[in-house]
Amino acid sequence: MVLFQRCALKNLILPSPYCRGWGVLPVSKSYITEFAFFLLLGHRCTGYSTISGIPGVRERTLIAVKPDGVQRRLVGQIMQRFEQKGFKLVGMKMLQASEELLSQHYQELRRKPFYPSLLYYMTSGPIVVMVWEGHNVVRTSRIIVGDTNPSEAQAGTVRGDFSIHISRNVVHASDSVEGAQREIQLWFHQKELMDWDCYNHNSTYEL
Ligand code: TYD
Repeated sequence: MVLFQRCALKNLILPSPYCRGWGVLPVSKSYITEFAFFLLLGHRCTGYSTISGIPGVRERTLIAVKPDGVQRRLVGQIMQRFEQKGFKLVGMKMLQASEELLSQHYQELRRKPFYPSLLYYMTSGPIVVMVWEGHNVVRTSRIIVGDTNPSEAQAGTVRGDFSIHISRNVVHASDSVEGAQREIQLWFHQKELMDWDCYNHNSTYEL
């Protein structure tokens, strides 16, 4: 609250919309009204879970750019899909995954005939794993990513636009909220995830 109110105060006397830079701004009546509004509602601006009352604003999902996506230099374009949607990146790292980690990640697929080749491909090079946060992020990410089989994936989805065959479908996205929680814990330590404030949170959610 204090941070947000400080931000509001700065906006009162400074020109920058997001509290960057210093300068002089004539204090208009509307700014004073706005400031009073921020003071009154300051308690609602302390964090994402309380800021808008929208359930699931802090929902998180695991997205991974698979080895083919990294090799094909698609990391930036894939990240852009999530950023431009409005989701918030709260964790990211590049690594070469071990078989052990992947066998836990894909624990439900261990008996599938394609599992050995999936493991071979997933350990063939570096991957980029990310955690994205936002309202309904798990379900929406699955839509952004598209069908598991790229031949079925709609144009405009990541798999629809960047891949042809199911064995090289460039990206992973958690398929349920519970699955996402399990996968995030598997791939990230708590300290690797950042809680940070979006200055323009009210451009994405109703306050
Ligand atoms: P799955 O969890 O079913 O799909 P998704 O990644 O969309 O959640 O499968 C995991 C990965 O296994 C999938 O992204 C690609 C690979 N795969 C195959 O190689 N062949 C297959 O027949 C299937 C179903 C998946």
